[in-house]
Amino acid sequence: MKTVILFGSPRKDGNTIQLSDAFSQKLKEKGCDVRIIYLNDLNIRPCQGCLTCSPEGVCRINDDMKDIRKYIVESDLIVYATPVYWSTPSSQLKLVIDRSIAFIDTEYNSRIKGKKAVTIMTCADENKDTFLIIKDMFKRAFDFLGISYVGSIDATGCTEKGVVNKESIERAAQIAESLV
Ligand SMILES: Cc1cc2nc3c(=O)[nH]c(=O)nc-3n(C[C@H](O)[C@H](O)[C@H](O)COP(=O)(O)O)c2cc1C
Repeated sequence: MKTVILFGSPRKDGNTIQLSDAFSQKLKEKGCDVRIIYLNDLNIRPCQGCLTCSPEGVCRINDDMKDIRKYIVESDLIVYATPVYWSTPSSQLKLVIDRSIAFIDTEYNSRIKGKKAVTIMTCADENKDTFLIIKDMFKRAFDFLGISYVGSIDATGCTEKGVVNKESIERAAQIAESLV
C-alpha cells in the first residue's frame, strides 16, 4: 500500500507529528511505502477558482501542488494530518484541499475515486466535540472526491508541544496496522 501523509502543522516537533510518526512507522514496519509531505516547507498558492483544471485536471498555477497532485494520484491511502486551528484545518492543509478541485472533472466525477483517507488531528481543548466541525468538513470533502474515510486519529488536550497522550499514539499504530 502506497501512502502519502499531507502534513499540515508548521511544527515538526509538535503534537501532530507524534501521531503521524507512530502511524507512518507502523505502516513502514508492515512493508508499506510511506511519503510525508511537510506542506509548510512548500510553495502552494491559493486556488483562484477559475476551474481551468476541470477538463484535463491541470491547474494553471505552476507551484509545488504539481508534485503533491502526483503523490496523491500514485497513492492508495491519503493521510490528512493537521492541528485544529479555529475548529478547522491549518491553512497549509486547507490550500491543498482547495486545490484538490482539480481532481473533479466537468461532470463532477472524481479523478481520484476509490482511494482511502485517514485524518490525524490534535487540539488543545479537552472536549472531543472540538473535532465535530473539522470532521464534518473532511467527510463532505471526501464524499465529493469519492474517497473513503477509513479512520481518524484525534488527540485532545494538546496544549503544549509533545504532550500527546499514550492512548492516541497507540491508536495511531493500531489504525495503521488495521489498514494493511
Ligand atoms: C492559530 C491556532 C488556532 C488554534 N485553534 C484551536 C481550536 O480552535 N481548538 C483547539 O482546541 N485548539 C486550537 N489550537 C491549539 C492546537 O490545535 C494544538 O495545540 C495542536 O496540538 C497544535 O499542533 P502541533 O503541535 O502539531 O502544531 C490552536 C492553535 C493555534 C496556533
